[in-house]
Amino acid sequence: MRFIPLERLINLQDGYRRRFELDGQSILLAQEEGEVFAFARHCPHQHYTLDYARIENGALYCSAHGFEFNLRRSGDLIKPQGFPCNNLKVYGLHYEGDKVGILL
Ligand code: FES
Repeated sequence: MRFIPLERLINLQDGYRRRFELDGQSILLAQEEGEVFAFARHCPHQHYTLDYARIENGALYCSAHGFEFNLRRSGDLIKPQGFPCNNLKVYGLHYEGDKVGILL
């Protein structure tokens, strides 16, 4: 695995969102309520983009059909419970110097 730096820490603030295309994966880096997350840009339900999805209390709400995913716990589907849907891919964050990134 190699460290892929995504952003300088000084540039992060609540409301920050930026997308990256890396190794064929479309990834969003976001900060809300002081928490930073990196996750797949497309919803695992019907692949709508999550560019403007709401993030609150560590949960992401897809505006297409209202599905909710836990960004703090591997992108687990929170709602609707029991619906056959894959988890949202969440990337673990890695920090080096003044940068945040992911390991790929
Ligand atoms: S595409 Fe995200 S909930 Fe349906």
